[in-house]
Amino acid sequence: MTFENSLEFARKLDASDSLAPYREQFHFPVMKGKQVIYFTGNSLGLQPKRTAAYVAEIMEDWRQLAVEGHFYADKPWWDYHERLAAPLSKVVGAKASEITVMNTLTVNLHLLMVSFYRPTEKRYKILCEEKAFPSDQYMFQSQIKFHGLDVSDTLVEVRKRDGEHHWRTEDILAKIEEVGDELALVLLGGVNYYNGQVFDMEAITRAGKAAGAIVGWDLAHAAGNVDLALHEWDVDFAAWCSYKYMNSGPGNASGVYIHERYHGRKDIPRFEGWWGTKKETRFLMQPEFDPMENADAWQVSNAPVLALAPYLASLEMFEEVGMPALIAKRDLIVSYLEFILKEIDKEVDSKFEIITPNERGTQLSVFLHGEGRPLFDYLMEHGVITDWREPNVIRLAPAPFYCSFEDMYRFGQILKKGIQET
Ligand SMILES: Cc1ncc(COP(=O)(O)O)c(C=O)c1O
Repeated sequence: MTFENSLEFARKLDASDSLAPYREQFHFPVMKGKQVIYFTGNSLGLQPKRTAAYVAEIMEDWRQLAVEGHFYADKPWWDYHERLAAPLSKVVGAKASEITVMNTLTVNLHLLMVSFYRPTEKRYKILCEEKAFPSDQYMFQSQIKFHGLDVSDTLVEVRKRDGEHHWRTEDILAKIEEVGDELALVLLGGVNYYNGQVFDMEAITRAGKAAGAIVGWDLAHAAGNVDLALHEWDVDFAAWCSYKYMNSGPGNASGVYIHERYHGRKDIPRFEGWWGTKKETRFLMQPEFDPMENADAWQVSNAPVLALAPYLASLEMFEEVGMPALIAKRDLIVSYLEFILKEIDKEVDSKFEIITPNERGTQLSVFLHGEGRPLFDYLMEHGVITDWREPNVIRLAPAPFYCSFEDMYRFGQILKKGIQET
């Protein structure tokens, strides 16, 4: 398609966008009487309008039924989390039995490492990308120390090449081969939070497994954003948060995938709690843990339904729309944003360098050469919600559920003025 940097053209794209009606189903912050242009769905997705009713339902059940809500609410609380498994399994490409929702992301990654990082004298190394999201780095370091190992010897970080902004798959595969039979665990972010790169999860998983390692993924920036086929790729485990592209609210619950080969086994170490025991016998309050036959065996505490309700509301929207439609719009809107950036670049002195490689999802990370923090502040003051990462990068993620092509055009105009005025 030949794009044009004009309001008329952007509106034409909106008119033919089958997801356009969904924009009305989200609450947008308003600044100076105008809806903002929201680029931070990769950080915190907007609130769907239907979410409040899902939360109100729990509040109402609690008011009317109190403890009886656990079993007699329309959506009983004791197995509320099970409602999320089937829709989520479609988002991440898994079987419903391989999905559970619990806790928050870093907590879940820790719990999964308890089960899946079992270092031996020979095989103990962990491979990740350099400068992984800080929480993952702290998790790796603390897990390694917990096992009494030395971080610098155990953690293998794959680096980008000098002068490049992205990782090359061939370098990751070569590193996996090099570490070979010392490799216990491969655990990377499926989509890198800084440059927006989508890793070749299928190839990396295959290589990790061929080396005899366990392979897991932190899908914080991938779930609800990119095509995933966790079961088919034979991924061992994965976890993600729900507050970014999945629009479930600040700090909210995390999804977990555990391959079915690990289900129903008592030989897998796990930090256990009563919500992981079989439902049939749970309330007999027996001392022995009898694991659920699916990923729910990793559940620890009873379901935090006030947190799960917004996630269920959001998943209903994913069910209605489906990942293929979201991905199709994502590709078009991100390409249009890229075009707008290149057009504006021609009209101003500054130089924009898109550091996101072609393997991308919704996010474009842009190095703003010749510009600084004042431009970012200008954008925020003019209703463009984006974020800033050192040294000079803004991340733009036009979530396909609610961003419009007109937003992209308007953003270009504000950006141009901002460069001229700051
Ligand atoms: C890649 C990645 N991993 C982990 C986290 C930490 O998530 P949480 O605070 O929910 O544990 C984030 C948060 O943004 C993230 O982007």
